[in-house]
Amino acid sequence: MESPDVESIRKDFPILSTKTSHGKQLVYLDSAATSQKPVQVIDAVSDYYRTYNANIHRGLYDISARATEEYRRSKELVAEFISAGSYNEIVYTRNTTESINLVALSWAERNMKKGDVILTTQMEHHSNIVPWQMLARRKGAVLEYAKLKGNAVLDMEDYGKKLEKRPRLVAFTHVSNVLGTVNDAKKLTEMAHDAGATVVIDAAQSVPHMEIDVGRIGCDFMAFSSHKMLGPAGIGVLYGKEDILEKMEPLFGGGDMIRSVRFDSCTWNELPWKFEAGTSNVEGGIGLGAAVEYLDRIGISRIRQHEIDMTRYALGRLDGLDGVAVYGIGKKDMTDSNRAGVVSFNIKGAHAHDVAEIFNSEGIAIRAGHHCAMPLVNEVLGEPSVARMSFYLYTKKEEVDKAIEAIAKVRKVLRLEDAR
Ligand SMILES: Cc1ncc(COP(=O)(O)O)c(C=O)c1O
Repeated sequence: MESPDVESIRKDFPILSTKTSHGKQLVYLDSAATSQKPVQVIDAVSDYYRTYNANIHRGLYDISARATEEYRRSKELVAEFISAGSYNEIVYTRNTTESINLVALSWAERNMKKGDVILTTQMEHHSNIVPWQMLARRKGAVLEYAKLKGNAVLDMEDYGKKLEKRPRLVAFTHVSNVLGTVNDAKKLTEMAHDAGATVVIDAAQSVPHMEIDVGRIGCDFMAFSSHKMLGPAGIGVLYGKEDILEKMEPLFGGGDMIRSVRFDSCTWNELPWKFEAGTSNVEGGIGLGAAVEYLDRIGISRIRQHEIDMTRYALGRLDGLDGVAVYGIGKKDMTDSNRAGVVSFNIKGAHAHDVAEIFNSEGIAIRAGHHCAMPLVNEVLGEPSVARMSFYLYTKKEEVDKAIEAIAKVRKVLRLEDAR
């Protein structure tokens, strides 16, 4: 597959040509936390504010009609992007976290009872653990975690064994934000369905980076965030199968989510609006639509291939570096389907925060800490924190090279040469 033209893509991202406070060229290796935004998205949001800012679904005048149409069109674009049946299945929330909480507070609240099992995994972000812990506490349900194998991949035997407990709900991440491991979403979903469970996928790290077909995967719900896929912050998506969403109760009540209200009763609006109470994040939706158009124009499969190339390159450069531990699937076991563009590492003798600070002095933005996956980082990997580089369509090999040079600088500054 032809690689995307990274140099011309980079011209669309104004921030990538800026310098940091240290006077260095910004090297942005933290796209798993949030992605940068192309001018096409920035302009779409600015254009809305400048030329047709109005509330949606209520104005009988031109600019309101246009805002309503653009907001609805963004849902059609998102639906197509993940091959959903229609935009009725695309509920806008604030982010992945809120999408998962919506499932916990609406679907699970009505469909789960004391003693029911919720199955998740040991490689989850807090947003796919805490809502289930809270649900388990409210309902008296039991929360189980499928284990990892080799601290890198899901232990399928353990997953299968835990499914024998016939969980009511299975919630797993498609891609780990710490290990970069890509789970086989279709297989995990099929196994969970065979065990009678409803399936929620945390796709915060997959939808922005790889082709997703929710029909092929077969999941009941999928959650992701606009800000990780070139769009604005403050808007996220909950995909849900239409028949399931139809039966669910709205979480919030108020304007826009109703069809009619009387003093003594009300009826709900049709999908997907019944889940979106109050004035929507109109500019967020419009920006997300522009982001999806941008990703479509470059081609999500080409973006995925580029990230595979960057990851292989980074793993190759890190391989065998003295005193550097790399987490997740290693270079020799990496295939074109099991790893995403997230590479976590530690330098022996250095705290990950010191590593990130020294990287910053070179203009390189990486993240360090528990990455909102404390159980995985602390209890499975046994580390207080890890440093993480993550890639996207605009990442260059030269930037990975700079990160490798910065590792040498860390060792020098912290005088780690002898700490082998
Ligand atoms: C795997 C995963 N799930 C969920 C989230 C939460 O996303 P948000 O903060 O946009 O809700 C993240 C964010 O880093 C993530 O990486």
